[in-house]
Amino acid sequence: MAMKNVAVVAGLVAIMLLAACSGAPKPTLLAVTLVGPEALPTSVFTDPALQRGETNYQRYCAHCHGYHGEGQTGDSAATTRAMGMKTVPAHDSTGLIWQYADQLLLRTTKEGILNSLNRYPMPAFGTTFDDATIMEIYAYVKTWWTDEQRAYQAEVTRKLQEIWDTLGVETTPESPFATATPAPGS
Ligand code: HEC
Repeated sequence: MAMKNVAVVAGLVAIMLLAACSGAPKPTLLAVTLVGPEALPTSVFTDPALQRGETNYQRYCAHCHGYHGEGQTGDSAATTRAMGMKTVPAHDSTGLIWQYADQLLLRTTKEGILNSLNRYPMPAFGTTFDDATIMEIYAYVKTWWTDEQRAYQAEVTRKLQEIWDTLGVETTPESPFATATPAPGS
C-alpha cells in the first residue's frame, strides 16, 4: 500500500518535471486590481440628472443592453442566435429606440417585455424607479444619438402627445399610461 502511494507520488513528480521541461507556456495570471466605488472613473457629466441617469443605466441596463448601449454583441450574441433566440437590442444610434416616443419608452421600461423569443427577457422596472428616474436614464441614453435622431425623437414625442390630447386621452402622474376618457353619458 505504502509502496503504491510512493509510486503514485513519483509518477506525479515525473509528470510535473516533464511539463516543466517541455517548454509549454506557463499559464499567466491576470493582474486584477479591485477598486472601491470611489476609485471608479468619474462621470463626464456635470448635470446631476445625467449623472444619476448614467449610474442607473450602468447598474440596471448595461449588462443586457451594453455598457455603451451597443446591445448584446460578440460570443454571447452568437450563442444566443445559435440557440434560435433573440439578442438584446442596442440603445445607441445603431439601435431603433430613437424612433420611439418618450411616453412609450417610459411605459416599456415600467412594464418590461414578455416575449418568449428572448434569451434575456426585458424586466419591468415600475417598482424599482419612479417616472422621473426612468426619464433620467433616457436623458443619458440620448447622449449616444446623433443630433438628427434626437430631433426626430423629440418630434415624435410631441406628435404623440398632440394626438393623445386631440383624442382626449389622459395621462396623470398617478397613471402615466394613456387611458381613454369615457365619452360623456357613457
Ligand atoms: C435581462 C436583460 C435586460 C435588462 C437588464 C434590460 N433590458 Fe431592456 N430589453 C431586453 C430585451 C431582451 C429586449 C427586447 C425585447 C423584445 O423586443 O422582445 C429589451 C428591450 C428594451 C426596449 C425596447 C427596445 C426595442 O428596440 O424594441 C427598451 C426601451 C428597453 N429595453 C429599455 C431598458 C432599460 C431602460 C433598462 C434598464 C433600466 C433595460 N432595458 C434593462 C433585455 C433587458
